[in-house]
Amino acid sequence: MAELRFDNQVVVITGAGAGLGREYARLFASRGAKVVVNDLGGSFRGEGSSSKTADAVVKEIKDAGGIAVANYDSVEYGEKIIDTAIKNFGRVDVLINNAGILRDITVKNMKDADWDLIMTVHLTGAYKTTRAAWPHFRRQRYGRVINTSSSSGLFGNFGQGNYAAAKLALIGLTETLAKEGAKYNIHANALAPGAASRLTETVWPPDMMKLMTPTWVVPLVAVLVHSSNKETGSIFEAAAGHFSKIRWERSKGLLLRPDDSLNPDAVLKGWNTIIDFKDAEHPNRVADSMGLLRKALQLPKNAPSQSFDFKGRVALV
Ligand code: NAI
Repeated sequence: MAELRFDNQVVVITGAGAGLGREYARLFASRGAKVVVNDLGGSFRGEGSSSKTADAVVKEIKDAGGIAVANYDSVEYGEKIIDTAIKNFGRVDVLINNAGILRDITVKNMKDADWDLIMTVHLTGAYKTTRAAWPHFRRQRYGRVINTSSSSGLFGNFGQGNYAAAKLALIGLTETLAKEGAKYNIHANALAPGAASRLTETVWPPDMMKLMTPTWVVPLVAVLVHSSNKETGSIFEAAAGHFSKIRWERSKGLLLRPDDSLNPDAVLKGWNTIIDFKDAEHPNRVADSMGLLRKALQLPKNAPSQSFDFKGRVALV
């Protein structure tokens, strides 16, 4: 089988000075890409900064015969990171929003600073880089985005209210980017990875760390951002060599009419039907909810369904 290549493509990776980001950078460079290695170089709590980590990865890539340039800006200044790609390589094809920190604490004890910084780095950071790359993607009618989510975002996790909220918000952003980018061959997917890094070393036992090599996550990302890949707006998990896709599921549900039966007692009576996932649907757009409403309201088949016009407004078409 031919090797998946990224020759002449420009790949921007945020937080590429360590952990998963470093492994993405090394793989893309080894397969022909020109790589922007972004890293702020601070602590895992988001304190301080240093050019050392990004420089070390750039050196590693160059020593191996690859092409890379460092950028030390925080992702909240995403436009500067994309500028580095444009100034050095003239384009950007792939953006991997990977930079991340932790401020784990229960919601009860959380300070606003813990909430704000997590939102800034994970959510605002991904938005800023993506918004800066978007005009380039549109102009060239090509772009690939990966947003790094987390199982904490998908399922919630004790002591990670800030992180979980930001990581789930990235799913909503990804699903929207997929819809806004579809016309321009811009694909966006979200990843919930699992890998040994400084973010997990305080939580996982040493035996588990050995089984969670960051390099084992990288192949999925390489496939997702390759030009041949059609997948977009999807959520994937990758850890310890296991790869899977996650989707939304909606129970068939209970339909009550707006008469005497539409009251709390009727909802309680129908509870087992509401939460029964037999014959479930897998919605992936807002219009899918209209399908349900159409049924519930007994709208005629040719009644308008909800969609988006390209000025970004919700429209009835
Ligand atoms: P890591 O700590 O090894 O790497 C993250 C890198 O991001 C660091 O080098 C750090 O300096 C950089 N960074 C932090 N804030 C930055 C900022 N404002 N601007 C630019 N760079 C910044 O962590 P790891 O594990 O490789 O994490 C990568 C991503 O994967 C993160 O978004 C994390 O939340 C996510 N993730 C990781 C999991 C795991 O099991 N390791 C699980 C779920 C999600």
